[in-house]
Amino acid sequence: MANERATRRAESVAAPLALAATYRREVAASLARVWENVHDWEHLPWLHATSFAAAEPLARGPRGWRVRLIAQPGDPASAQVIELDADEPGHRYRVVTREGPGRGSEIRVQLEPRAAHVTGVEVEFHVPAVPPAKLARLGASYVELYRRLWDEDEEMMIARERACALVSTEAVPHEDRRLDLGPVAAVRARVPFLVELGGRPFRVLELDGDLVAHAATCPHRLGPLGQAPVRDGCVTCPWHGYRFDVRTGASADGRRLRLATAPQVSLEGGRVVLHRAP
Ligand code: FES
Ligand SMILES: [Fe+2]
Repeated sequence: MANERATRRAESVAAPLALAATYRREVAASLARVWENVHDWEHLPWLHATSFAAAEPLARGPRGWRVRLIAQPGDPASAQVIELDADEPGHRYRVVTREGPGRGSEIRVQLEPRAAHVTGVEVEFHVPAVPPAKLARLGASYVELYRRLWDEDEEMMIARERACALVSTEAVPHEDRRLDLGPVAAVRARVPFLVELGGRPFRVLELDGDLVAHAATCPHRLGPLGQAPVRDGCVTCPWHGYRFDVRTGASADGRRLRLATAPQVSLEGGRVVLHRAP
């Protein structure tokens, strides 16, 4: 990492920028998972909803993306155009602000794979030169923001890693096709809750008086739908905001994906029973 640091220092001398702060941490995720996260601009206004209000793609290239990003609380005047320049062989990337507040700033990140599920992260915040007191304040606010963003990213990467591992072990056949949930009144009193049938998680809930089951894993990148809010009959994934009709599993936002087929909910002698589709 020392040579890389020297290279980046040389770059910062060449450009009229000042180093406002450096933030170092480890994340409990593989390097591959971290790269997936870096290239994934779509999660910015969803996973990081407290920081960003909207993100719109402008361009995509071999080394990254260019995105128009609006910070919370959503004032269009806060819009920035930011650009990712990823150097995967070098385990590093830059995010450059091309337009809007902070124009010219560069966030330079060095990654270091330390173990199968541990990656070191070193983030340098380079900004157009400002007085020292302002530079220190700017650096502190960048570090606070990035600590929060990486905390949120790490939580998603860990959950995704776990979900990917579950999917890859699903070669083991699960024969259970029927699940008795108990007496109707007891089920209605418990909803919403999660169940597993055929090795897959589903959520049972009440919708306009009907008991309904829907897949609790998002078909996009295996995001968690088990706790996600349901509004107007649709569930919204917390990772990238894809929406699905919980009754039919169909996309509710015009995208092609749909939820895995949910078990049928039926009443048998006053009991609620789930039947997995054949
Ligand atoms: S995992 Fe991306 S929208 Fe659900
Ligand atoms: Fe993120």
